[in-house]
Amino acid sequence: MDFFNYRQQQLCAEDVSVAEIAAEFGTPCYVYSRATLERHWRAFDEAFEDHAHLICYAVKANSNLAILNLLARLGSGFDIVSVGEMRRVLEAGGKPEKIVFSGVGKREDEIQAALKIGIRCFNVEVSGELDRINRLAKELGVIAPVSFRVNPDVDAKTHPYISTGLKENKFGIDIEQAIYEYRRAAQMTNIQVVGIDCHIGSQLTETAPFLDALDRVLALVDQLQSEGINLRHLDLGGGLGICYRDEQPPSPAEYISAILQRLADRDFEIMLEPGRAIVGNAGILLTRVEYLKPSTGKNFAIVDAAMNDLVRPSLYGAWQDIIQVNANSSEEQQVWDIVGPVCETGDFLGKNRELKIMPGDLLAVRSAGAYGFTMSSNYNSRPRPAEVMVDGDQVHLIRARESLQQLWAGEQLIP
Ligand code: LLP
Repeated sequence: MDFFNYRQQQLCAEDVSVAEIAAEFGTPCYVYSRATLERHWRAFDEAFEDHAHLICYAVKANSNLAILNLLARLGSGFDIVSVGEMRRVLEAGGKPEKIVFSGVGKREDEIQAALKIGIRCFNVEVSGELDRINRLAKELGVIAPVSFRVNPDVDAKTHPYISTGLKENKFGIDIEQAIYEYRRAAQMTNIQVVGIDCHIGSQLTETAPFLDALDRVLALVDQLQSEGINLRHLDLGGGLGICYRDEQPPSPAEYISAILQRLADRDFEIMLEPGRAIVGNAGILLTRVEYLKPSTGKNFAIVDAAMNDLVRPSLYGAWQDIIQVNANSSEEQQVWDIVGPVCETGDFLGKNRELKIMPGDLLAVRSAGAYGFTMSSNYNSRPRPAEVMVDGDQVHLIRARESLQQLWAGEQLIP
């Protein structure tokens, strides 16, 4: 459920007409809804009722400071994968003790920076990372809280590029090997074992793979307990899917209630790392039709947003809904491929879409709040789009459109 709806056939974000946003801030432009964002975060938080938990929003989904700040104000934790994301969280007012650090390739300087601010937990993904963290913690005279991200070898039944919990994926420590790592960690002077972590993929639309993974995690947790290695938390990762088209993923409440049932009377604190389910449907990408190019067999609508602004359709063949901002068009309905100006055949936002459009019309690509702006690039020397946040009848610019000068700032000629 989101707050992008038509009023008198004009698309609105909360109480603001999207066409007015385009007039003021130009296109392409990402538009977010604060009410949607907050509603989604609360759906996770409230479903736990009084069971100890921490929602660690996955920063990679959308790392704009205003978004991180709104979530920090709600009390959110954060799942980060780089020192860049860590600094963003701090800039936005997030608390170090609510940060968990995931990722397969943590550099020394990144681990040191996280140890210095005192994050909640390192999700260790490689055996050598444990030794590195222990050594760096010793040098700094601190104890590092760690959990292991285990790879439970579960098929998440999602796109192969965003499936992470199979043996063939680079993520996590093989669940059968994990016991040895826990035993090693328990002996280390500057490591405190606090939890276990698992993330099997993204855009999951069924509960079963999550529960299969949880069962395997719980078997390991019980084995650890029998050896006197007691954990405080279970981090079950992110991955809950959203509705892009006709998917029917479980709601956060259904998903969380299934988890809590499976835990039975184990009273671990539960952490989750949702990204897409919080921010995905809280954003749209606003774009304008530049040209129509009808031809035999194929009609192209060339718009001013491209794969550099939103790469998901090109990269994963992802389907995202594309709708008219003005639903009251008298144009004839035709089938269009919505393409951008980038010089790649793979530069499209959607194919075979039935729309009534003419040049100058505005379109909105829905479900663009997650992995939209954060995956954008400057390919073809295209400045990245503006981002705005709607809050009731107010519109706030939360990131200015990149300027041309910013494109080459930092570049230098040689003598
Ligand atoms: N935690 C970890 C360790 C992750 O690797 C991810 C996502 C998340 C949490 C958040 O997952 P979510 O709740 O958003 O599904 N760019 C792709 C998605 C890549 C997801 C990578 N990891 C896309 O646009 O579909």
